[in-house]
Amino acid sequence: MKGSMIICMLACLAVKINGIALNVSAYHYELQANQLVNVPVAIVLQDQLDYALIDMGRFNKTGKVVSKAANLTAISWAHAVNSQQLLAEALNADIDMIEADIVLGQLNGEGEQLPVMAHPPANISDLTLEDFLHQIKAHNEVHEGAEKGVKLDFKSIEVFEGALDILDATIPKMSYPIWLNADIINGPVEALSSTPVDPARFFAGCMRYKQAVLSIGWTTRWGPDYREGMYTDAQCSAMLQSIQDNNVTSTGQPITFPVRAGIAAQSEEQLHKLLASVNSTNECTLTIWSSAGDYVDVELLRKLIFSFGVERVYLDVPAELAAQLDLGNTGKATATFNSLVSFGFVSLCFWAVSSWLQMQLK
Ligand SMILES: *[C@@H]1O[C@H](CO)[C@@H](O)[C@H](O)[C@H]1NC(C)=O
Ligand SMILES: *[C@@H]1O[C@H](CO)[C@@H](O)[C@H](O)[C@H]1NC(C)=O
Ligand SMILES: *[C@@H]1O[C@H](CO)[C@@H](O)[C@H](O)[C@H]1NC(C)=O
Ligand SMILES: *[C@@H]1O[C@H](CO)[C@@H](O)[C@H](O)[C@H]1NC(C)=O
Ligand SMILES: *[C@@H]1O[C@H](CO)[C@@H](O)[C@H](O)[C@H]1NC(C)=O
Ligand SMILES: *[C@@H]1O[C@H](CO)[C@@H](O)[C@H](O)[C@H]1NC(C)=O
Repeated sequence: MKGSMIICMLACLAVKINGIALNVSAYHYELQANQLVNVPVAIVLQDQLDYALIDMGRFNKTGKVVSKAANLTAISWAHAVNSQQLLAEALNADIDMIEADIVLGQLNGEGEQLPVMAHPPANISDLTLEDFLHQIKAHNEVHEGAEKGVKLDFKSIEVFEGALDILDATIPKMSYPIWLNADIINGPVEALSSTPVDPARFFAGCMRYKQAVLSIGWTTRWGPDYREGMYTDAQCSAMLQSIQDNNVTSTGQPITFPVRAGIAAQSEEQLHKLLASVNSTNECTLTIWSSAGDYVDVELLRKLIFSFGVERVYLDVPAELAAQLDLGNTGKATATFNSLVSFGFVSLCFWAVSSWLQMQLK
């Protein structure tokens, strides 16, 4: 009874964003159990024609879904989509995720202060956050199977809190990936010029959106002329501490740590320690990003990515750097599949399972 309910829930949710041919053998889902209720769970995806059984598992009331074998580096990004024109281009482009920045500012330099799409120091835009989200939703509604996900980079705690009403009205209706990003900890290299977003207030807001991926990072200072720098043990501990202090370990929200390529490449040991401390409670991944022109030791970065595996690393870097990384050259044959589907599907599984668990716990 409970089992069939889950099957139905996952199937219904998955079908919404699928409808694309999937190579089922490329996926493996493992349902990790705590306190077993012994519910067999079938995860079902709908192909264009029929259903395919992916895997069977069991989980208990605090269980979690662990995904394996999804190549997250294959997910493609449109970056800094902060204007009406860039949004129109991104919606028409063959990309999976739309990344954009939000500041408190004005629409076309007039009227009241409100959340708009811009990167500091700019605070005038021709696109408000509300309109941005509406346009993506409208696009996704008529592009079933090719929905785009959204990553919102909040540049201050004020704009995040000012956006909560808009997020309340839109996030619950989203059937596609939504990431909430902020730099919440002072990071390398002595990046003291920008103020981190207050972690407690950011997490408090994010608690409202259990389906959202929390993308939490460090402020950074880097560029073409930098060579020395890493995410230090102290900076990683501060991140871990803020996750624990704000009870994110009990919400089970998926976490991704956005790390700057040039610095991350030199922090393999520290990042492994950090992810290992979080991944027993929250699904966690890295999102490697880079600014154009940043110094990056490509060999070290490649080593970092394979040390975690392509199933744990998103890659939002300029095309030139991505090409240098030569990620196809693993020496092993790999299956190809639609990455956004796996990505959205994993997020939805988390969401569905955690909603179901909450219902059971009540
Ligand atoms: C949940 O189940 C696992 C076995 O799969 C067990 O090791 C773990 O202790 C259980 N968790 C709780 C909280 O009972
Ligand atoms: C935009 O930034 C300028 C310069 O920092 C500031 O004077 C102005 O008040 C800001 N406008 C809004 C609406 O925040
Ligand atoms: C975290 O949870 C504990 C125990 O439930 C509670 O006392 C504390 O206030 C919570 N902290 C936050 C920041 O929500
Ligand atoms: C957690 O991360 C560590 C280090 O990356 C890895 O060895 C371990 O398998 C991970 N555990 C899970 C449950 O993903
Ligand atoms: C992962 O995806 C990237 C980008 O599409 C591709 O170049 C690479 O071959 C894939 N790697 C693996 C191990 O599947
Ligand atoms: C699916 O992937 C497997 C290997 O993972 C491969 O043998 C098979 O041919 C693929 N099927 C399709 C339809 O692409």
